[in-house]
Amino acid sequence: MSKKIFAANWKMHKTPQQAAEFAKNFLTKVKDDFFNHNEVMIFPQNFSLAAIATEFKNSKVQYGPQQIHTELKGAFTGENSLELAQAIGAQICLIGHSERRQFFHEDHTAINKKVKLCLEKNITPILCFGETLEDRQSNQTFDVCFKQLDEALTNIDTSKRLVLAYEPVWAIGTGQVATSDQVKEVHEKVFQKMQSSSFKNFQILYGGSVKADNAKELIGIPHVDGFLIGGASLEVDSFLRICYL
Ligand code: 13P
Repeated sequence: MSKKIFAANWKMHKTPQQAAEFAKNFLTKVKDDFFNHNEVMIFPQNFSLAAIATEFKNSKVQYGPQQIHTELKGAFTGENSLELAQAIGAQICLIGHSERRQFFHEDHTAINKKVKLCLEKNITPILCFGETLEDRQSNQTFDVCFKQLDEALTNIDTSKRLVLAYEPVWAIGTGQVATSDQVKEVHEKVFQKMQSSSFKNFQILYGGSVKADNAKELIGIPHVDGFLIGGASLEVDSFLRICYL
C-alpha cells in the first residue's frame, strides 16, 4: 500500500520568515516514524521556496513550486523555472490548479507540457483537476474531469510516478466539502480510468475545504490517498491534526 500524502498549498501566503518558522515548528512536532507511512509535501509561494528548502533540506519533507513555465529557461520575464526550483532541491511541482486555470487562463496544452517537463526532470507532478458547480449541476462532472485528465496526460510516460488531486472548484476555500459519496464516486472512476490507461504508479488526493474534522471520514474512502490542503495547512497545529488523524 502506498504512503498517505499530506500536501499543503499555501497559495499567496507566508513571508520567507513565516515559512521558515512553520518549517522549524513542524519538524519539532512531527515524529520521525510518521514518514514510514506518510509523505508530506509543501508548496510555498515562490519567494519563500528557498527558505523552505533551507529548513527542510535534511528532512523527509518534500517541497516545490505552485506553478512553473513550460520552458526551463529563457527570456520569460516574471516566470518560474522548474530547473531553478530543482536547483534548490524541489522534488515536486503543482500543476493545473483551478485558480491557475481560472485566473491565469492556463490551458490544456500548457498543462500537458508542464507534466511532461516534470517527468523528464524526475520531478513528481501533482496534477489538479475538478469540476465547477455549474458542471456538477448539469451532470457533467465525469466528462469534465476525464477531459481534463485526458488532455493533461496525452503522450505521458505511464511508468513514471504521478500524483493527481481531485479538487472540485466549488469546494475550494468555501467550507463546502464534497460529500463522501461524491468523493468516492470520482476517486473510484478516476482510479479505474488510470489503471485502464496503463498508469502504474499514481495516487489520487482530495482537495477542497479539508479540515481535521472532515478529513477522518474522507481518508477512509477507497482510493483517497491523501489530501491537498489550502487554508488548514497554514498553521502547523491544524495541518498536523490532519496528518495525525
Ligand atoms: P482549501 O483547503 O482552502 O479549500 O483550498 C484547497 C486548495 O485549493 C488546495 O490546492
